[in-house]
Amino acid sequence: MQEKSNFSSNNERRVAVVTGSSKGIGKAIALEFANAGYSVVINARNEEELKQAAKDISNSIEDAGRIVSIPGDISQEPVCISLIESAVKQFGRIDVLVNNAGIGGESKKIYELQKKIGMK
Ligand SMILES: NC(=O)c1ccc[n+]([C@@H]2O[C@H](COP(=O)([O-])OP(=O)(O)OC[C@H]3O[C@@H](n4cnc5c(N)ncnc54)[C@H](OP(=O)(O)O)[C@@H]3O)[C@@H](O)[C@H]2O)c1
Repeated sequence: MQEKSNFSSNNERRVAVVTGSSKGIGKAIALEFANAGYSVVINARNEEELKQAAKDISNSIEDAGRIVSIPGDISQEPVCISLIESAVKQFGRIDVLVNNAGIGGESKKIYELQKKIGMK
């Protein structure tokens, strides 16, 4: 994929942190930011999957050094603090935080959900 970088140096480069980005929507968002020229911090709990995601995203840009993976469970406050501190330490700034990590809720037909909560 063609890199569409608008930033000429590391100091000018914008930084995006995307939680829950080893797969799914978060990974797609991280890839978009990488292709737009951002440095990107990706995060998820499973380290192996996160490493693989970092490789996949790095393969689509010229300078792989601007994709950094920081594993951790962001339901834990100290992990969130450490994630943000590590991102700032690595890149000196954060321009965008995509708080994507999460799990899908219960998926049912609407009338089944209405029945479940006693709605008529
Ligand atoms: N897909 C949909 O139709 C849909 C609809 C509405 C809303 N959403 C929301 O959109 C977000 C992404 O959905 P998705 O379908 O892309 O989900 P997904 O494919 O299951 O991916 C979820 C990502 O979040 C990570 N994650 C989960 N819990 C985490 C935690 N506590 N700390 C850090 N990382 C965590 C997962 O990796 P690990 O498991 O390794 O941590 C994974 O990278 C979720 O918040 C979901 O609720 C999705």
